[in-house]
Amino acid sequence: MSTKSESSAAPNEVLCGGLVDSKTPVLEWIGETDGALRLLDQTLLPCETKSLECRSVEQVVEAIRSLRVRGAPAIGVSAAYGVVVGVREAASADRSKFDERLSVVIQQLAGSRPTAVNLFWALDRQRKVAERLPTASPQDVIAALLTEARAIEAEDRVMCAAIGRHGAELLTTGDTVLTHCNAGALATAGDGTALAVIYAAVADGKQIRVFADETRPLLQGARLTAWELSQRGVHVTLICDSMAATVMRQRKVQAVIVGADRIAANGDTANKIGTYSVACLAKTHGIPFYVAAPSSTFDLSLSNGEQIPIEERSATEITHGFGRQTAPEGIDVYNPAFDVTPAELITAIITERGIIRPVTEAAIRAMLASGS
Ligand code: MRU
Repeated sequence: MSTKSESSAAPNEVLCGGLVDSKTPVLEWIGETDGALRLLDQTLLPCETKSLECRSVEQVVEAIRSLRVRGAPAIGVSAAYGVVVGVREAASADRSKFDERLSVVIQQLAGSRPTAVNLFWALDRQRKVAERLPTASPQDVIAALLTEARAIEAEDRVMCAAIGRHGAELLTTGDTVLTHCNAGALATAGDGTALAVIYAAVADGKQIRVFADETRPLLQGARLTAWELSQRGVHVTLICDSMAATVMRQRKVQAVIVGADRIAANGDTANKIGTYSVACLAKTHGIPFYVAAPSSTFDLSLSNGEQIPIEERSATEITHGFGRQTAPEGIDVYNPAFDVTPAELITAIITERGIIRPVTEAAIRAMLASGS
């Protein structure tokens, strides 16, 4: 289906020779309360699998802001560990000074990226840990914060597996799924959300192929999804974002599955910029459009998607993608990192608790209120 391109490189240019082997965890906590958050630096993929160790809150904030770790659930888990590394310097302070430090650290992490609600959800859980232990020593609170971060990580893994199980029922052997951005293992502590569905269907013995949108401007589809699926032995074909309409019209796609950064109470869903376009295309071509997300991605405090804060990123991501100038000097740029897909374009939302279909506020509230 694809043609390999020949490329010529300037003599000093470093070429990426092919997919590197990934044995490196996306994120892991090393050691005990004096340990570190080790992150696979996703900005280097697919050419290099290199980790960085975060021992300060500033390092964690930088890693989230620069997309070294990205994807809503992975951001949430990282922030939870970020609280632990951030409050340690107040371990021997008195409790009120410790609580002040905790507030500052939570504020720093909350300022890293605005759209993925999992970040604020994880920070809220950490805040509540300290509130539940008003008379405990700072050392004991730090230990409890680490326990909570580990629980958030472990729960995320379980949620991914359950999303995969529920979503796999929607796919038939022979289907080709189009996905946008990366909502896979690289974006979570487990197997991902959208990609977990594909992994689970393949594990069930179904033959599933994937079209991965390149996902401009930061190429999460090309750099991350195409890499991750290849590593896992799933057949993936990379396309430019502008080719999605054509592959749909050619009947090469039977379903679209994407992840989410925040889902409002009515089902409007913020996800990587370009998702809304894909949803419109799916509607035009009569293809089901699924969102896969854990309950931690829902924000029932927002009645609709217009209230979701959308991150705007630097113009250079568009004008100087990956180090090379591709636009005229000084040109005006608009670079929202996410868009909102209206609920009416979403066929179903796949959660760890089950499938929400049709996507209505009542169905969302009922599913989230259900035990499991
Ligand atoms: O800017 P990113 O790479 O963090 O954007 C990620 C996405 O949009 C994902 O689709 C979303 O976070 C879901 S990840 C399971």
